[in-house]
Amino acid sequence: MFQPSPWRDDFPAIAALHRQQQTYLDSAATSQKPQALLDALLYYYGHGAANVHRAQHMPGALATQAFEHCRAKLAAWLNAGSAEQIVFTHGATSALNLLAYGLEHGFQAGDEIAVSALEHHANLLPWQQLARRRGLRLVILPIDDQGQLDLDAAMQLIGPRTRLLAISQLSNVLGTWQPLGPLLAHARAQGALSVVDGAQGVVHARPDLQQLGCDFYVMSSHKLYGPDGVGVLYGRSQALAHVRHWQFGGEMVHLAEYQQASFRPAPLGLEAGTPPIAGVIGLGATLDYLASLDAQAVSAHEARLHALLLGGLQERQGIRVLGAPQTALVSFIVEGVHNADIAHVLTEQGIAVRAGHHCAMPLLQHLGLDGAIRVSLGLYNDSDDLQRFFDALDQGLELLR
Ligand code: ALA
Repeated sequence: MFQPSPWRDDFPAIAALHRQQQTYLDSAATSQKPQALLDALLYYYGHGAANVHRAQHMPGALATQAFEHCRAKLAAWLNAGSAEQIVFTHGATSALNLLAYGLEHGFQAGDEIAVSALEHHANLLPWQQLARRRGLRLVILPIDDQGQLDLDAAMQLIGPRTRLLAISQLSNVLGTWQPLGPLLAHARAQGALSVVDGAQGVVHARPDLQQLGCDFYVMSSHKLYGPDGVGVLYGRSQALAHVRHWQFGGEMVHLAEYQQASFRPAPLGLEAGTPPIAGVIGLGATLDYLASLDAQAVSAHEARLHALLLGGLQERQGIRVLGAPQTALVSFIVEGVHNADIAHVLTEQGIAVRAGHHCAMPLLQHLGLDGAIRVSLGLYNDSDDLQRFFDALDQGLELLR
């Protein structure tokens, strides 16, 4: 039965891609953008761009007001508590690197950092490199066959030597939610800081950060239908105060002399240089758009598409779905056929999916694979998109097997 997306027309690129015979199923890599965002960018650039926090003039005051309004909007969206706890970065990766440098002073040789076995490189490599710089031990929390963290094992491995836990909310490869509640509570009881990578999770469930109880949460705008070049670092006030300045330049300074300087506290102290002004304003407009949608209808739509996608893959012979995906983000392999060949035949037929290691090489190695195909859906996808995908896949399988 045809299951339309009520929000498809809100995303002009979907029709444009359709005219080019392209079906976009790679939203976990980046999403298409709503008209509301395009309008906001056009308005900002069309009515006078200006730098923020620096100028007395009217365009500067307006830009600062709009920028700070978006900070407050984001704090409300995430239920963060206050706007001062929101730091704008240039992406989730830069937010994680900011933390790995900004928290470095708190570690001593022999301390442990715990990360899960399914992390994206962005939430593994900054910690791995920090561990190498400071002589720390990187502890890998194992996962089970379903792609879920092995909670019992994780509880054993997170102990008094653990200074920091870094874990993703939702796997970008397996589409599985991690059991953050008990894990974060346990890490806190052991005196460890916690960092949650919400890059994928924030797209599929609106977070309540005060309830989640992590010390830090990072996300990127571009996966949440917003512009690229913008990331968000949330920090609990006390935890954020512990983060040292790591990039130096304009507007993060309190007083500067030739030989010394003092710096502002977060958030501005962690936002050296001109921030992504248009991007932040665009993200604000995107959040307004998302807030206007019926959240239950969005979840129900996603659940229907998830069931169609998973069911369709599972009923085809020789296809192995990785783990037990819980969202419309599903990776699979075809037994005996290389993922690059599948990707090639899908691409030839205008189906845009991601293939390869998905920036999670250690996870793929752990699964004994050198790559997989990933289908990830957005608000704008519908059952016709999936039908086109399955038709292309069936043709490809006939050709390749
Ligand atoms: N992190 C993005 C992905 O998983 C790019 O595709």
